[in-house]
Amino acid sequence: MPEEIILETRGVTKRFDGFAAVSGVNYRLREGESAGIIGPNGAGKTTFFNLLTGMFPPTEGTVLYRGADITRIPAHGRVGRGIVRTFQLVSVFDSLTVRENLVLALIRAGKEHAVSARFFLEDAWSGNLPDLSAGALGTVGLREKALWKTSELSYGDKRKLEIALALCLRPSVLLLDEPFAGLSDVEIVEVLELIHRVRKDFTLVIIEHKISRIVDLVSRLSVMHEGKLIAEGEPAEVLADPLVRQVYWGRP
Ligand SMILES: Nc1ncnc2c1ncn2[C@@H]1O[C@H](COP(=O)(O)OP(=O)(O)O)[C@@H](O)[C@H]1O
Ligand SMILES: [Mg+2]
Repeated sequence: MPEEIILETRGVTKRFDGFAAVSGVNYRLREGESAGIIGPNGAGKTTFFNLLTGMFPPTEGTVLYRGADITRIPAHGRVGRGIVRTFQLVSVFDSLTVRENLVLALIRAGKEHAVSARFFLEDAWSGNLPDLSAGALGTVGLREKALWKTSELSYGDKRKLEIALALCLRPSVLLLDEPFAGLSDVEIVEVLELIHRVRKDFTLVIIEHKISRIVDLVSRLSVMHEGKLIAEGEPAEVLADPLVRQVYWGRP
């Protein structure tokens, strides 16, 4: 059976005032795989995610999803197709409760049907949540904090909430931009365990700066440097690559 390519870029380039943050990247993601993208700060990883998720269009090149050209489809249209992301800096609404964040995410993604009419009629403080989001909240271990004001969560719990928001959108492809950034060692272990637990449900792409954190999480690693993909393959193979070692540690 041929492996299906779920997400692909062909020669994507993104220039900011002439500066190429991403340059001619050809990338293929196979359905069901867990893939990592590593690279030094400023390598273009987040910009590449922005191109995959439709935050802005590429200056040149094409983005394909299940073989269809989605280059001009904006972010919300891609979320509708199952391409869902989290951000390097946690992106949740502090002034809302945990459950309000979840309901808002469903509504913003056009999944109002997932939010029952009963929910809107209920006392805002009652415990019931739409099924999808209640499940996602349980998965990340925040069920008992559903009614907390998000501002009162630790940064690690906010990260888990952000992942719950992504999960309740039923992703086909989940893209996590440095999910361990800013977390304590204990929180890193918890979020790692969480990602291990859920990754079989979708295709996963994870950006990470520190290689050691994701070698066991992904089956394929791509290395970005100065906007280009300079290496790709199984993690052990990539880490042994002299060019990668040069870029990362300044020595082969
Ligand atoms: N909106 C923007 N405008 C101008 N330059 C940008 C913008 N976004 C990113 N860059 C630049 O593109 C390069 C790559 O940034 P980024 O994709 O955030 O790298 P990474 O995520 O690998 O650290 C950096 O030099 C950054 O300053
Ligand atoms: Mg980044």
